[in-house]
Amino acid sequence: MLFLLPTLFSLLLCTTVVNAEQPPPDVLFSRSLGKRTWGPRKTYNVSFYHINDVHAHIDQFRSSGSSCTDPTKGCVGGYSRVKTIIDKTRPTHHNSLFLNAGDEFQGTLFYSFYKGSATAQVLNQMGFDAMTLGNHEFDDGDQHLAEFVHNLTIPVLSCNVHSANEKLQKKLIPYKLYPKHSLALVAVTTDTTPSISSPDNGTTFDEPIQAVQKTVDLIRKRYPYIKRIVALTHIGYDQDILLAKQTRGVNLIIGGHSHTLLGSMAGAAGPYPTIEKNLDGQEVFIVTSYRWGEYLGYIDIEYEQNSGKILGYTGAPIHLTNDTVQNPQLQKEIDTFAEGFAHFATTIIGNTTKTLVQSTCQQQECTLGDFIADAILAYRESNGAVIGITNSGGIRTEIEVGNITLQTSLETFPFGNTVVDLTFTGAELWKIVESAISRVSQFNGRAVTSAVQWSHTLRVQYNPSNPAGSKIISITVNGEKLVADKQYHVAAIDFLAGGGDNVWEASMGGSWVPLKSLDEVFADQVTKLSPLSIEVDGRLSVTDQTTPELKF
Ligand SMILES: *[C@@H]1O[C@H](CO)[C@@H](O)[C@H](O)[C@H]1NC(C)=O
Ligand SMILES: *[C@@H]1O[C@H](CO)[C@@H](O)[C@H](O)[C@H]1NC(C)=O
Ligand SMILES: *[C@@H]1O[C@H](CO)[C@@H](O)[C@H](O)[C@H]1NC(C)=O
Ligand SMILES: *[C@@H]1O[C@H](CO)[C@@H](O)[C@H](O)[C@H]1NC(C)=O
Ligand SMILES: *[C@@H]1O[C@H](CO)[C@@H](O)[C@H](O)[C@H]1NC(C)=O
Ligand SMILES: *[C@@H]1O[C@H](CO)[C@@H](O)[C@H](O)[C@H]1NC(C)=O
Repeated sequence: MLFLLPTLFSLLLCTTVVNAEQPPPDVLFSRSLGKRTWGPRKTYNVSFYHINDVHAHIDQFRSSGSSCTDPTKGCVGGYSRVKTIIDKTRPTHHNSLFLNAGDEFQGTLFYSFYKGSATAQVLNQMGFDAMTLGNHEFDDGDQHLAEFVHNLTIPVLSCNVHSANEKLQKKLIPYKLYPKHSLALVAVTTDTTPSISSPDNGTTFDEPIQAVQKTVDLIRKRYPYIKRIVALTHIGYDQDILLAKQTRGVNLIIGGHSHTLLGSMAGAAGPYPTIEKNLDGQEVFIVTSYRWGEYLGYIDIEYEQNSGKILGYTGAPIHLTNDTVQNPQLQKEIDTFAEGFAHFATTIIGNTTKTLVQSTCQQQECTLGDFIADAILAYRESNGAVIGITNSGGIRTEIEVGNITLQTSLETFPFGNTVVDLTFTGAELWKIVESAISRVSQFNGRAVTSAVQWSHTLRVQYNPSNPAGSKIISITVNGEKLVADKQYHVAAIDFLAGGGDNVWEASMGGSWVPLKSLDEVFADQVTKLSPLSIEVDGRLSVTDQTTPELKF
């Protein structure tokens, strides 16, 4: 059972990307094409290449997100593959733009070790025309981001960010004009950044939809020759759809942030492009390109010559499997960066005087489970979280007495899972805990495929002899009985939030965005609390009482 779990876990993580085949290029005409009248077609094409949420995956990786330790098992992505496609196909497209929708920071050792300098060096070789800022670009504060932006030879755009850091603000531009294409690019960043990243005090983010409209209106007034306006966004797919519907003047949205897979492949969340109507009843095309650079977004847009109206398109996200060769020159540089942190991986982050037990985590409360759940809570407590939750299936190795290295941290939490903020009612929480203890979902009746580890703030008494579905006898949160209709803020991981292990359903807990990765949260806490000597504290305890204290 225990040995089957790794496979199950990675299968669940991979369900959205099982199709390694290149999808056929999608060809479709916009609805308005049918309404066109007789006469010669006066059109103007622009090809857009786009990428988002690479999260420091500058080298190839396993589709699950872990590093590519054995390429024969199949690895995807990496900027040296992106470069091969760009160098080969861009020269054959007269008018093209290559755009980056943000979140280059955070996700692998290429960021943890090089803090953006490796990323800047790679990005500068790709031929990007513009980049917008993602929330994660603020993870190390505005001054650090300012240095990164100054190292880039790419224009960095965002119309709604007002940085308290002068050096950063000086480099930020709200929009950029491409007179050759009578085109303007407006960029925008999620205004949730202050609560999910670490921008400086005093750095503010305007509401994105209003900010875009204001900027579009300004461009139209100042530059009447501009016919086509493209929004480069880092606000997430749902917000992109709202942006399309609630504005006028934008015809194409190139987005990021929500890691949404669009296209005709298995697991896609919607069509590529997704077409919506704006306030004037005109079509707006929305595209985004999943995450980590597994796909390179590509769409060839055919505009009406004298307007921003889109008549048709060709294109589909390009899947960067190992069928695409790596640009050898760039790959050599990336390999050299990787050698740089081979040594870093042995850096000691702390030590423990007691074994951090993993081997029993699938059966019961275990010390490594207690520790990581508490670390997750500690990370999000100042944002209102009262419980930390993670799955035992994501905890991979036991940690022996002695020194703990970064390598250990990465091997123990290898999936690149990130912490997320969710909100449940007390009644939902009761059912979630019951699902985890009974190993049967109280929401859909199917099996729960992992045990769950909880922070010390949650204390549960259960009776293993009671039938599945009514094993829980009592639950307290911070010493107080669970209240059915009270809202509880919870910090968990993206895998569980997406319905992984069937602990709760993907539709529950509200929308979320990925925060710090689990290995980092672990390392931070080890550094803070070393030397460790963790013992289980009985947050899950057995009782022979048979009647639940609460019934929902
Ligand atoms: C390419 O990936 C496939 C799986 O998608 C794998 O079976 C194959 O071994 C890989 N090829 C090489 C040369 O690594
Ligand atoms: C910027 O470039 C300098 C010089 O190469 C480098 O030392 C620094 O680490 C870089 N910083 C960032 C954040 O990219
Ligand atoms: C940020 O601003 C708030 C309110 O003005 C203040 O209480 C806090 O101490 C500031 N934090 C830092 C790190 O400057
Ligand atoms: C312009 O775009 C349309 C739709 O994508 C495509 O069918 C057509 O071949 C393109 N024309 C040129 C000259 O590239
Ligand atoms: C642990 O690291 C310290 C240095 O921080 C070193 O002196 C010690 O020998 C290491 N212990 C073991 C068991 O490797
Ligand atoms: C364990 O870590 C603490 C804090 O980093 C350090 O002071 C102590 O010397 C370490 N102990 C050993 C045996 O390495």
